[in-house]
Amino acid sequence: MSSNKSAVVVKGLRKRYEGRYALDGFDLTVPQATVSALLGPNGAGKTTAVRILATLLRFDAGTATVAGFDVARQPAQVRARIGLVGQHAAVDEILSGQQNLVMFGRLFHLSARQAARRAADLLEQFDLADTGDRPLATYSGGMRRRLDLAASMILAPTVLFLDEPTVGLDPRGRSEVWQSIRDLVTFGTSVLLTTQYLDEADQLANHIDIIDTGKVVAGGTPSQLKAQLGGDRIEFIVHHRFQVGRAAAAVSRLGVAEPAVDLDTRQVSLRVSDKATALSAAVRALDEAAISFDDLTLRRPTLDEVFLHLTGGRAEQEATA
Ligand SMILES: Nc1ncnc2c1ncn2[C@@H]1O[C@H](COP(=O)(O)OP(=O)(O)O)[C@@H](O)[C@H]1O
Ligand SMILES: [Mg+2]
Repeated sequence: MSSNKSAVVVKGLRKRYEGRYALDGFDLTVPQATVSALLGPNGAGKTTAVRILATLLRFDAGTATVAGFDVARQPAQVRARIGLVGQHAAVDEILSGQQNLVMFGRLFHLSARQAARRAADLLEQFDLADTGDRPLATYSGGMRRRLDLAASMILAPTVLFLDEPTVGLDPRGRSEVWQSIRDLVTFGTSVLLTTQYLDEADQLANHIDIIDTGKVVAGGTPSQLKAQLGGDRIEFIVHHRFQVGRAAAAVSRLGVAEPAVDLDTRQVSLRVSDKATALSAAVRALDEAAISFDDLTLRRPTLDEVFLHLTGGRAEQEATA
């Protein structure tokens, strides 16, 4: 792979299961030595995309290259350059962490001595050196997932696919895995990570693509995505409930759309185009109308809002259904 090539390039990918498209015009580019996140709700097509890129699943149309090789025509070359951590790990409970890694090394045709050396290096890198001789059955969720990551790195892959790597982990396990993923990139690995968690994408990814019903509906850096939602908003809490409506009317001419009002929390939220002047104009308008208020702030939209906006709130409806 030459230095100016991307780790993954996908164009117009389509995959049909029994008459329904799981991927329908899916495009993706993962630059080298970065973490890209594919962020989307359950059923969006994330696992299908990863399995196709890892040569485990055929597709119906489109093109895909990984590490510069064509996924359909050069699957062996692709396979030699990738690692995959899926939702189900292929590790042995009774063996120790160290023994598991040696076993993987042997599977990949390393000599006994090479496999032992690689296992020791990886246990060190993934902060498992102290527990390497304990059986896997005694590992915490975060330790196991780090062992999965270590196993996927035996052959130092160029491109690593991580399909929802922190599902089912407690907060501590998640942050341990996040740190290991960050470390991988400093070794030059390109990572494509799928996730349903906005904070995970925000924490790890240089670039986020949002996938919904089989296609990418938006992409960019976390801050670019936030900017796409129409910029900044002013929010404040009206002191007296009976003044909430009047407060919204008083500031409405400053916004690009009608203010959003929440009577329960007494919050008024207003999208503005000119954040330099909007804050002081809002204070003036409220003072002139003799409305007292608290916590007047200017803030950027959150990634959650971007996500809900782009996926039409479906993710949230499913989660609460
Ligand atoms: N083997 C399969 N047979 C039929 N439909 C499938 C199969 N695998 C996935 N699907 C469907 O394809 C869509 C995408 O699934 P998937 O790629 O697993 O999404 P995600 O990983 O984002 O949750 C879903 O509607 C799912 O039900
Ligand atoms: Mg999945």
